[in-house]
Amino acid sequence: MAGTTYLVTGGAGFIGTNFVKKLRRDEPDARIVVLDALTYCGNLSSLSDELADGAVEFVKGDIADRELVAELLERVRPDYIINFAAETHVDRSLDDSRPFVKTNVEGTLNLLDCALRLRRAEEVAGQTPSLRRFIQISTDEVYGQLEADIESGRPFDDATVELLGRRGLCYGSESFSETTPLRPSSPYSASKTSADLLALSFYHSFGLPVVVTRCSNNYGPYQYPEKLIPLIINNILERKPLPVYGRGLNVRDWIHADDHAAGVLAAAHHGVPGEVYNFGGYNERRNIDIVRSLISIMKDELADNTGVDESLITYVGDRPGHDMRYAIDARKSMRELGWRPEVDFDEGLRATVRWYLDHQGWLRDIVSGDYRNYYSKMYSQR
Ligand code: NAD
Ligand code: TYD
Repeated sequence: MAGTTYLVTGGAGFIGTNFVKKLRRDEPDARIVVLDALTYCGNLSSLSDELADGAVEFVKGDIADRELVAELLERVRPDYIINFAAETHVDRSLDDSRPFVKTNVEGTLNLLDCALRLRRAEEVAGQTPSLRRFIQISTDEVYGQLEADIESGRPFDDATVELLGRRGLCYGSESFSETTPLRPSSPYSASKTSADLLALSFYHSFGLPVVVTRCSNNYGPYQYPEKLIPLIINNILERKPLPVYGRGLNVRDWIHADDHAAGVLAAAHHGVPGEVYNFGGYNERRNIDIVRSLISIMKDELADNTGVDESLITYVGDRPGHDMRYAIDARKSMRELGWRPEVDFDEGLRATVRWYLDHQGWLRDIVSGDYRNYYSKMYSQR
């Protein structure tokens, strides 16, 4: 869509980066402005191609900064605000939850408030409001946890096979729909729930065109290696122990970041204000099975695979309040947004491993902390 402006917050993080790259491919004429505070997990080098060819304008800043956000919105007048910016790691939220409240709750509220003020100013000036949708990126973790039958997965029922056109396994009879009650367990998920409720309140109270999307666990390129999949890949590369929490039987529903990005775009273009849309991959796996798959793929892919075997697996103490199982019912998004998860999990996981193997410099820079210098190097060269 020519002339369409997207403000993507958190665009230097994992999913934001994948989203910006997809947006570039799908809508080459779109103007993309990324607002990111470049916290420990923001990595501007992930967008080096887009920055070099001028496709993306980058603004370093905090979504909770009132003056900065108000000025940016006034200048940019985005058609779409896509709010990926967040503190995202459950383990960190257990260590110190305050940054989660600051960014996820106060930051989201600030974005909403500044968007509303701009809209009111436009109305007073007799202008058509510029903002078409405010997409609040949320997570399935707001729903809490599901019971799991962890010993054995059960095959999809016939309706699910027909819906997806493939077979698969699930580890329980229930899944999260958009009407499932919100029962977050961790400070991370509690802060995301608060943000969802604030966002929806701005629709109900003021008519701001807010849409909330809730997605399951993402995997793919550019993920910070504190999360399970890139952490295990990096530790295998370094032949370090592979930490598995508890018995490794907790279940997550994995979706490729490209499928999530496609869902977010579909929600921006076709989502109804005030509505919530779930995205999930229909790929339930126990953590230990993910770790075993990664060992097996890396054994295949590494030229020197000495020492790559299951003896690296190390069971460690469990995460406090560790949610047992997540599983998403995404039928509403399939029905109403015309979206569906496309990436086959086994192929997507192998491609992801290959990406990390082909981009070991990207991983090494993070582990060494060098990625933090990218912003100053890049902008001091101009
Ligand atoms: P990430 O941690 O990789 O990236 C977060 C980005 O936000 C970083 O670039 C960081 O610098 C930026 N940021 C943090 N605080 C900021 C602030 N105050 N102001 C501006 N920028 C700030 O996260 P991710 O995995 O890409 O997740 C993106 C969004 O998707 C989050 O809202 C998360 O809750 C949601 N989500 C993630 C998953 C998942 O599996 N990773 C699943 C569902 C939903
Ligand atoms: P994570 O990637 O942190 O995502 P989330 O907590 O948002 O689901 O963890 C995914 C699963 O893997 C979760 O059940 C916790 C588990 N896990 C481990 O067993 N070991 C690890 O080192 C990490 C980071 C996670």
